Amino acid sequence: MPRPELQAPPEIFYNESEARKYTTSSRIVEIQARISERALELLNLPNDGVPRLLLDIGCGSGLSGETLSENGHHWIGYDISQSMLNVAVEREVEGDLLLADMGQGLGLRPGVIDGAISISAVQWLCYAQTSSHEPRLRLKAFFGSLYRCLARGARAVLQLYAENMDQSEMIMTYAMRAGFAGGVVVDYPHSTRARKAYLVLTCGPPSKQTTLPKGKGEDGEMCSDDSDESADDENQTVGIYERNRPKKRLKVTKKGGRGKQWVLKKKEQMRKKGHTVPPDTKYTNRKRKARF
Ligand SMILES: C[S@@+](CC[C@H](N)C(=O)[O-])C[C@H]1O[C@@H](n2cnc3c(N)ncnc32)[C@H](O)[C@@H]1O
Repeated sequence: MPRPELQAPPEIFYNESEARKYTTSSRIVEIQARISERALELLNLPNDGVPRLLLDIGCGSGLSGETLSENGHHWIGYDISQSMLNVAVEREVEGDLLLADMGQGLGLRPGVIDGAISISAVQWLCYAQTSSHEPRLRLKAFFGSLYRCLARGARAVLQLYAENMDQSEMIMTYAMRAGFAGGVVVDYPHSTRARKAYLVLTCGPPSKQTTLPKGKGEDGEMCSDDSDESADDENQTVGIYERNRPKKRLKVTKKGGRGKQWVLKKKEQMRKKGHTVPPDTKYTNRKRKARF
């Protein structure tokens, strides 16, 4: 059976019968709950009993969001499938539900969200569902809007099933371009069944918060549904990626600027290239007073 992403667009694939089948499968319910618990753990919210406002992106029928409610948080669920959301309403989930396409951006005010999870959904953005769907533009809109709506220092944990390395890299590239720091945590990397990849992203400059936790099962620890012992080629459990936007900030942080010699050298280089450059004087690179 081909992957769902190759069969039809999500709003068509998750039709009424598929939405019900998905939500009544005890195996799926159990797996999604377990992944959501782990995503919440990786969000690393303060353990102070204060309810947070979280997002569940691609919330479906609410299986993942339920974990957020059970842990005392408020949540907003986004999904593109009306049928999945209908089932969520029937099940009386506690989150606020939005029928929306994450590929068009989340449309929220800046800095208002304390954290976000997405379970088994973001890989859908890598597939062009119509001729007007360009995966790169959709990933850009999604990650840009996610970055903006999160409070500084907040995390987004996205569990996803990329089809190949190209997709993983494309997703990671657009996350980094949006400004996120972080990387991938892989649990049970040696198990074809239990292996799960989580993109753990932090909003804001790199800090202690951005240090990635270890994946589970790295030391041969087994998972309960780890019946298949055929190890993957993949040995690495945690990939660390740098943010893609540190350059601008580096310039600003260097105390006292780059010095007169550096400015003179640059001016000389510009002259050699034929540019018109002001003459070197005693004022060159002189610091201005804070007030005139
Ligand atoms: C495998 S289900 C997971 C649902 C839920 N997170 C869970 O854990 O049970 C994937 C969900 O992603 C949603 N989805 C896929 N592409 C989407 C998009 N572009 N915008 C919003 N939701 C999307 C689908 O409609 C589907 O409900």
